[in-house]
Amino acid sequence: MEAEYKLENLAGVGPVTTKKLTDAGVHNMMDLIVRGPVEITEITGMDRETAEKIVNKARVQLAEAGLIAQSFESASDIYKRRQDIGKITTGTNCLDTLFEGGIETQALTEVYGEFGCGKTQFCHTMCVMVQRSPEEGGLNGSVLYIDSENTFRPERIVTIANAHGLDPERILDNIIVARAYNSAHQTLILEESSNLIKENNIKLIVADSAVGLFRSEYLGRGTLAARQQKLNHFVHLLSRIAETYNCAAVATNQVMASPDVFFGDPTRPIGGNVVAHTSTYRVYFKKSGKKRIARMVDSPHHPEEEVLFALGAAGVIDPEDATAKKAKKPAAAAKPAKKAKKAKDDAPEAEAGSADEPPEEERVEGPTDVPEPPGGEGEAE
Ligand SMILES: Nc1ncnc2c1ncn2[C@@H]1O[C@H](COP(=O)(O)OP(=O)(O)O)[C@@H](O)[C@H]1O
Ligand SMILES: [Mg+2]
Repeated sequence: MEAEYKLENLAGVGPVTTKKLTDAGVHNMMDLIVRGPVEITEITGMDRETAEKIVNKARVQLAEAGLIAQSFESASDIYKRRQDIGKITTGTNCLDTLFEGGIETQALTEVYGEFGCGKTQFCHTMCVMVQRSPEEGGLNGSVLYIDSENTFRPERIVTIANAHGLDPERILDNIIVARAYNSAHQTLILEESSNLIKENNIKLIVADSAVGLFRSEYLGRGTLAARQQKLNHFVHLLSRIAETYNCAAVATNQVMASPDVFFGDPTRPIGGNVVAHTSTYRVYFKKSGKKRIARMVDSPHHPEEEVLFALGAAGVIDPEDATAKKAKKPAAAAKPAKKAKKAKDDAPEAEAGSADEPPEEERVEGPTDVPEPPGGEGEAE
């Protein structure tokens, strides 16, 4: 950002405050408004009113310079700004149909589903796709990958890049991985990311998983409010950054799929109404035998619909490409008990394969998946 939008050019921000802000990853006026007055108060120790004034001044200057939206905007200006929204192809016809072309910048896309449903595979695939040229459905952009479960695998990136005819070394060079060790660290990574995003032309930010660390660190009834507040902060920050820097954000959220273990609609994430209220797009991934179902659950302008996809060497793939390779597999009889439970699921054509699901990785689930008591945030809507 241009020199005149530096912090020290704001009346009321002296060298001491500037230093405190810089140390906390707030480098310019844009960062100031991304973080907002509450956080600026915490960082600097100034009183809330002063912080509000400073953030407002920053907002006015940036708005006058046309760098951010005015507080009041004409619908046509909003329309114009939304013309800058980029789309990143998923590399498949099926998921591109669901997303109407691909995942969007200036938006947060939440992918939720049970263990092994392909959330991480989807993230890896998007890391490659965003680097394609615009003609090929990408944004020539780089990636910030916040890995909180230690499931980022460069080898997968290499395989996916090769499968799409891209140079794996170049692709790996443009993915910056931040391993998050705890929820506070995960948040810190994001708070400090603004320079990195600008300097590296980051067009995709992945938080895989966005929720896991929060869930495992805050266990039990008494800590629910604190957890939701912290998670709320993280997710809002992610979505504001996506909007401010015109990048796409993908956040994953692991949920239990077994109807036996929690209450209400199994397709609703137990971890996350906070996430739900912030994400612009919410997609539910579900196992269906060897295939996967993706359902667009919540979107401002997509109809709720679902598609079938698969997982393969190329990451997320079209189901035809999976069956093309391996067509022969006996349609084993599904377990009757499960079958009955699943009857209410609305993907009838896909259920038959469930029983021949190979034993995938062990479910290594820690305390994160302890079913929560009724009255938890799962039904706090
Ligand atoms: N190289 C690969 N080729 C085909 N399928 C793969 C490959 N690697 C992983 N998978 C599939 O991805 C699944 C794991 O998906 P993952 O994205 O890790 O799930 P999660 O939703 O828990 O993040 C595996 O069970 C397997 O079916
Ligand atoms: Mg995963």
